[in-house]
This record gives sequence, C-alpha cells and structure tokens, in this order.
Amino acid sequence: MLPVLLLLVPALSPALAWIPVNDWESGNVTTSMGESGQCVCHVYVPDTTFPANRVQHMQQVSKDLILEVEIQINKMVSYEGKLEVYLRDLKDLTVRVALLESSPDQYIKLEFELLRIELREFESLVSQLKVSLNASSPLFNSLYTEIRNMTLIVNQLETYDKSNLEVIRLQFAKLQKKLEDCQRQHDFIKPDIGNCNHTGILSIGKPTVVQLNAHLNPGYQYGGWGKDSKPVRGFESMYLYGAYTSPSVYDFYLYSDYEKLILRSAFKRHDIPNGWIGAGNNFIVHGNAIYYQINTPFSMAKLNLTTSTYNYRVIPAASQRFSYSYSDNQNMDFAADENGLWVMYASGESGGKIVLAKIDEKSFGIAEEWNTGAFKQLAGNAFMACGVMYATRAVDVNTEEIYYAFNTKTGEEKDLNIPFQKFQEKYTNLDYNPIDQKLYMYNSGYYVSYSVRFNKK
Ligand SMILES: *[C@@H]1O[C@H](CO)[C@@H](O)[C@H](O)[C@H]1NC(C)=O
Ligand SMILES: *[C@@H]1O[C@H](CO)[C@@H](O)[C@H](O)[C@H]1NC(C)=O
Ligand SMILES: *[C@@H]1O[C@H](CO)[C@@H](O)[C@H](O)[C@H]1NC(C)=O
Ligand SMILES: *[C@@H]1O[C@H](CO)[C@@H](O)[C@H](O)[C@H]1NC(C)=O
Ligand SMILES: *[C@@H]1O[C@H](CO)[C@@H](O)[C@H](O)[C@H]1NC(C)=O
Repeated sequence: MLPVLLLLVPALSPALAWIPVNDWESGNVTTSMGESGQCVCHVYVPDTTFPANRVQHMQQVSKDLILEVEIQINKMVSYEGKLEVYLRDLKDLTVRVALLESSPDQYIKLEFELLRIELREFESLVSQLKVSLNASSPLFNSLYTEIRNMTLIVNQLETYDKSNLEVIRLQFAKLQKKLEDCQRQHDFIKPDIGNCNHTGILSIGKPTVVQLNAHLNPGYQYGGWGKDSKPVRGFESMYLYGAYTSPSVYDFYLYSDYEKLILRSAFKRHDIPNGWIGAGNNFIVHGNAIYYQINTPFSMAKLNLTTSTYNYRVIPAASQRFSYSYSDNQNMDFAADENGLWVMYASGESGGKIVLAKIDEKSFGIAEEWNTGAFKQLAGNAFMACGVMYATRAVDVNTEEIYYAFNTKTGEEKDLNIPFQKFQEKYTNLDYNPIDQKLYMYNSGYYVSYSVRFNKK
C-alpha cells in the first residue's frame, strides 16, 4: 500500500507547497482547494526506503522553509485560520504515524508509541495555545515555525532507522522545550506565580506533557517525577525522576533540564544505600532535598542532594495501615506549595482519614497538624496548593477528579468536582509545583503535567 502524505498549505503561501513536493521526486501530486480556502496538496509517495542522509537534507530544506514561512507569516491575515489548518495537518500526521506503526521491530514500535503520544499532546497544546494566545502575539510566529518544523520531521518518518530516530527524539525534545518556553512566557504575562489571592482551584488543564519514562519501559508502573519547588542556585531547571517495577524506591535520577530528561541523560543517579530504601512513591524534591517514606524504621526520610546524606524522622502517630487506592505502601505523601513543605498520612486515631502536617524544614520536624475529612483509602492521591489540601479520586478509567479540599487557614472543608484527564487508569505520584503552578503526575509509566487555574474573585 502506498503511504499518502497530506500537506495542507495556506493559500497565501503557494511557494511552501513546492518545497516539500520537489523533495519527493519520485512521488506525484494533486492539488485542490480546501473548505476554508487553503491549498490542499495530496502527495503520493512511493513505498521505498530513503537514504539515511534524508534527515540532514530535510534540515536544509526546513531552513529554506523557515525563511519562506517568515515572509509568509507577515502576510497572514488571520492567525486563527492557519492554526486550524495546522491542527488538521497534525491530525493527518497522527494517522500516518499509526500506519507506519506496524513494524515488527520492538524498538521501533516503542518509538512510535512515543511519537504518537507526543503528537497527541502537541495537538492538545496547540489547541490550548490557540485559545490563550492573542492573535497578535509574537510568540505565535515562533510556534508557527515550530509546527512547520515538526511537520517536516514527522513527514520524514519513512526514513527511520535507529540513528534517525535519535535525531527525531532530539527534535521533539527541542520542540517541547520551545513550547514550554512559549507557555512560560505566556505565564509570565500573568503575574500569578506565587500569588495565593484566590479562592482555590477552578480547573485543571489538559495533560500537556506526556512521555514514556526514562527507562523507556511501561513496566515501570511505580514512580514519580517533577521539579524542585524551591530550587537552589544553579538547579532551577532540574528534574527529578524515579520509577520502579514495584512500590519500593531504590534510586533517583536527576536531570539538569527538561531536554536532558527527555533525552534520558541524567547528571546524577542516587543509588539508595541499604537501610535507606524507600516505599510508596509519594516523594518530592524541595530545597535540593528529596523527601520520601522509608519503612525501617517507618518514617520520613530526607536525601540532601547537596551533601548526598540521608536523615530520618519518625512520626509516631502515622500508620502503615492506610494507603491511597492505586498503590500499596503509600503511607506518607510529601507535598510542597507556596507555603512550604507538607506531609500527609493517616493514623489509627484519625480513623484512616488524612492528617495533614506542616514540616519545619530547619529541624525536619512537624510544626503543625490538621485533621481532614478525607479517607486516605478512598483517595487516589492528594496534593497541596496555597495551604489547601486537595484529594483526588477516579471518575472512570480516563478521568480523575479533585473531590475534596481542606483549607489550613480557615479549617474549612469543601466537596468539589474538578475533573481532569489521565492517560492510564492508575498513578502513583501527583504533586503541585508552586514555581510553575503545574501538577506533575506519574501515570503508570508516563510523565504527565497539567496547568492549574485558580478562581480569582
Ligand atoms: C501517481 O499516483 C497514483 C496513485 O498512487 C498512481 O496510480 C500513479 O501511477 C502515479 N503516477 C506516477 C507518474 O507516478
Ligand atoms: C527548525 O529546524 C531547523 C533544522 O532542524 C533548525 O535549524 C531550526 O532552528 C528550527 N527552527 C526553530 C525555530 O527552532
Ligand atoms: C488581544 O489583542 C487585542 C487587539 O490587538 C486587544 O484589544 C486585546 O485586549 C488583547 N487581549 C488580551 C487578552 O491580551
Ligand atoms: C486580593 O484581591 C482582592 C480582590 O481582587 C483585592 O482587593 C486585594 O487587595 C488583594 N490582596 C492582595 C494582598 O493582593
Ligand atoms: C543540606 O546540607 C547542607 C550542608 O550541610 C545544608 O546547608 C543544607 O541546609 C541541607 N539541606 C537540607 C534541605 O537539609
């Protein structure tokens, strides 16, 4: 069967159509007018294996294209219309990737799994940006170029062999970083970060980063990932990742930035020594230290990343009987928000309901405690944002909801139903990060993040 390549090119920029088309010397082309006046080119590509230098060649081609795109961008009357076209383009590419997936090679299959998920994520991100970016935003130009670039890369998927796949991975990492920057700049426009002058969470965005874990293995069902919520100088972009095939926690990987995380290039791996092995996967990195649960003795543990030293504190009331619903051994859940560091546990005295405790970072002790009304075993997980504890639970296999909130300032409890999408049914780690106001989830082997919207009065 011949793969069919659909290039949707804005009618304003006919020159664009011919650059990729010329490249497929052995294919043939028909053109037609699309619904919204864009030029639709159907390119029939013969089913042959292309030379390995194709990617490099395409990079040159894409440089030419970028120039062309820049010229054309200035002529654009409606940005919105164009985005619509590229969203459709991306949808078509997703279909194409699916077609190419039938390779017998496991490695290639895995890569395609990744690409497909990344494309889906990308699509949802572009949709979000479409809504949130103003048409006149200069960020849009760069996004436009990126979409163009990515389209070209994905168009090259026929040429894949293992080395080309690395090139593709790198391109995706770069693209995602750009999109992150784009979002960050966008966030920067709203001076909300660190501001708790609101009445709590209003909604959770679509999942915006989805990526198979650094072990490239969906068997690593247990784990967590995230960024330091109070980074020390020089480690502002650091990511933490740890995942395992059981609830035991025996190593942590540190990455200097997002790109390194995606490229699986850690600058440090902490192999947890005997006696300090953790459990439950509700760890967090805060102030260049990782806080996690250990079971012998059952206590809070701290790995100081500056000194690579370990320490622990027993919470006498905390019980090992109560875990969250998706995984065993989740007895202590660490969280960080605008107000600092927290730990959540249940006890016999609390009747299995979550007790929320503020950790004094200096003494590594409990400063204050609150009894909440959320039964630990009914909750999927819990996290803190602006001094409020939020507990989650399943709605169905693809939907989770925040169903309960406890405000430490007022002692007030609230029933909520704030839904959000998940890719896999179960997750072992969910934490809010006050630095970027995002939720980080480890969703049965996948990194997922969400933006959080607060309710401003
Ligand atoms: C053009 O593509 C069609 C559809 O796949 C094919 O039947 C035809 O032979 C192609 N023509 C040339 C000149 O390659
Ligand atoms: C698009 O891809 C080309 C070739 O890989 C690269 O040189 C260029 O910097 C990319 N464009 C942007 C805006 O990143
Ligand atoms: C978007 O741009 C228009 C015109 O350029 C401006 O009137 C409007 O206030 C902007 N909206 C936002 C949310 O920035
Ligand atoms: C919080 O928001 C309210 C209403 O918008 C405003 O009146 C008040 O000054 C704000 N407080 C702070 C500390 O920003
Ligand atoms: C880690 O150790 C360093 C050096 O002793 C100390 O300054 C720092 O406060 C420690 N960090 C934490 C979070 O305990």
